[in-house]
Amino acid sequence: MLHVPVMLQEVINSCPDNCNLIIDGTLWHWGHSFHLSSKTKKLIWMDLDSDMLLVAQKNLEHIPNITYFHDSYANIEFVSSKYWKADFVLLDLWVNMDHFKIWDRGFSINYDSPLDMRFNQDQNISAYDIINRYTSPQLEKIFIDYADFTSSKAKELADKIIQTRKASEIKTTFDLKRILWGCWLGKSAITVIFQSIRIQTNNEIQNLQIFLKKLPDILSPLWICSIITFHSIEDRVVKKAFHELASTKGFELINKKVIKPTYQEIAKNKASRSAQLRSIRHSKQS
Ligand SMILES: C[S@@+](CC[C@H](N)C(=O)[O-])C[C@H]1O[C@@H](n2cnc3c(N)ncnc32)[C@H](O)[C@@H]1O
Repeated sequence: MLHVPVMLQEVINSCPDNCNLIIDGTLWHWGHSFHLSSKTKKLIWMDLDSDMLLVAQKNLEHIPNITYFHDSYANIEFVSSKYWKADFVLLDLWVNMDHFKIWDRGFSINYDSPLDMRFNQDQNISAYDIINRYTSPQLEKIFIDYADFTSSKAKELADKIIQTRKASEIKTTFDLKRILWGCWLGKSAITVIFQSIRIQTNNEIQNLQIFLKKLPDILSPLWICSIITFHSIEDRVVKKAFHELASTKGFELINKKVIKPTYQEIAKNKASRSAQLRSIRHSKQS
C-alpha cells in the first residue's frame, strides 16, 4: 500500500492527551489513527470501504479497545451514542493514493475499468448510473459545482455525454475519457471531471455538511475536531461551518489560518501539496 498519512505530526499535535474516546471517521490505512492510539482509552474507526476495515482488523488485533464501523462519518451520532462523547474526531477527506491504484474501482483516469467510483461497495448508485441516467441539467450542475466549469462548457459536456449514450451505454472510464477528449479537454481537465463525478457518486459534500451540523452534539466539552481537506470546495464548507460554530456556539478555531504541509513534506510526498488542516475546539478549554 502506498498511502502516506498527510500532516501526521500536525494531526498528532492537534489531538489532546488522555482522551476517553477518539473517532477516526476516515480510517483507510490507519496512518493517522495508529499514532493516536496511545492518547486514548477507546478508539472508534469508521470507513465506507469495508475491504480496508477488514485489513485493519487483521493487522491491528494487538491494539485494545478499537471498535470498527462500516458506515459514513455522516452517521457519526449512531456510533458515538453507544459510547461516551468523543474528545477528538478526525476526518481525512479525499480519495487516497491506494484507491487510485486499484484498477477496477474506476477512480483513476489511467486504467480502463468499469465506471464505479464508489467508496462503499454496498451502495447502489455508481458513477455508471450518473453518467448513463442523469439528465442534462443534473450533469451540468456537477460540472459547474464540483469542477468549476463555466455553464456553457458544462452544457457542451453534458450534451455530448447524452448524445453518446443514446447510441450505446457509457460503460468504462476510457469510454468517458474518449468523450471528454472529443470536447477538447486535456489530462488535467479530465482529472477534474473525474473528481467531480466521484464527489457526486459518494455524496461527499452533503456528507461533510451533515457531519458538521452534528458536531456540537457528538463531542465532549473537551472536544477537538480536525479535518484535512484536499480541494477548495471541501475547504470552503469546513471553513464556513467552523467560523459559524466559533461565532455562535462557544467554540474557537485552534489556528486562525489554515495549516498546510511543510515544503519538506511536499518534497517527500507530492500528493500532500493540496492538503489543508483546520481544527476547532470547545472554548471552555482555553
Ligand atoms: C484519505 S483516506 C484516509 C487515510 C487515513 N487517514 C490514513 O492515513 O491512512 C480517506 C478514506 O475516507 C473514506 N471515506 C470517504 N468518505 C467517507 C465517509 N462519508 N464516511 C466514512 N469514510 C469515508 C474512504 O473510503 C477512504 O478510505
